[in-house]
Amino acid sequence: MNPRLEIFYTGQKIAMLTAYDYPTARLLDEAGVDAILVGDSLGMVVLGYPDTTSVTMDDMIRHTSAVARGVARACVIGDLPIHSYDTPEQAVANARRLIEAGAHAVKLEGAHVPQIAALTTAGIPVIGHIGMLPQSIREEGGYKIKGKTPEALQALIEDGLAVEKAGAIGVVVELVKHESMRPITDALRIPTIGIGSGEDCDGQVLVLHDLVGLFPWFTPKFVHPQAAVGAAIREAAAAYAARVHG
Ligand code: KIV
Repeated sequence: MNPRLEIFYTGQKIAMLTAYDYPTARLLDEAGVDAILVGDSLGMVVLGYPDTTSVTMDDMIRHTSAVARGVARACVIGDLPIHSYDTPEQAVANARRLIEAGAHAVKLEGAHVPQIAALTTAGIPVIGHIGMLPQSIREEGGYKIKGKTPEALQALIEDGLAVEKAGAIGVVVELVKHESMRPITDALRIPTIGIGSGEDCDGQVLVLHDLVGLFPWFTPKFVHPQAAVGAAIREAAAAYAARVHG
């Protein structure tokens, strides 16, 4: 097994953050983050789109290779963007491109069993993603909390088990009612990595820009920013402009 993937098997809590460029990835790697996700959240926090649905494979390859150049230790995960895994064959071809760009694993949204099985058979490690699926935001009509009823919780457990059985080595669980997370984590052998889903997960992932206040125009309710990088940039730029203007 690639030693970069060990964190998914040790039973240790997994600290995952997103990065999209070389210096940020290098800083996160040096800080001891276990896994760096080149998420298609790129579309919103870097490329300025309203959601993730405009992100392309070429975008993901360029940013995955930049991140991979900055990372010496952590596991790099490349996100498969919308419509890059509509069939198992397409999933394998596009995942290979992300692996060639330097990813150690890929992530895809939804319980797409044939795609996850094909990737696993091709020797490409896969992280699943269940709960709120940002690539389906237009159909969903917003970021809505999942797993609110016993039936919805059961459906999430079934999705998680399907993803696990197909061969995924871990699963991101997004925006699930906190009280529903313990039964999901207990039902799965693979680690659950939560975002906005409370503490009862085997790991946590956040969009770096949310964590450090680098996208100050919108911060999800579940994030407690640890820094105000956006404000620091504004302040430095204003001081510079004032100095130049005299
Ligand atoms: O694209 C992304 O950053 C993600 C995380 C929100 C898990 O999928």
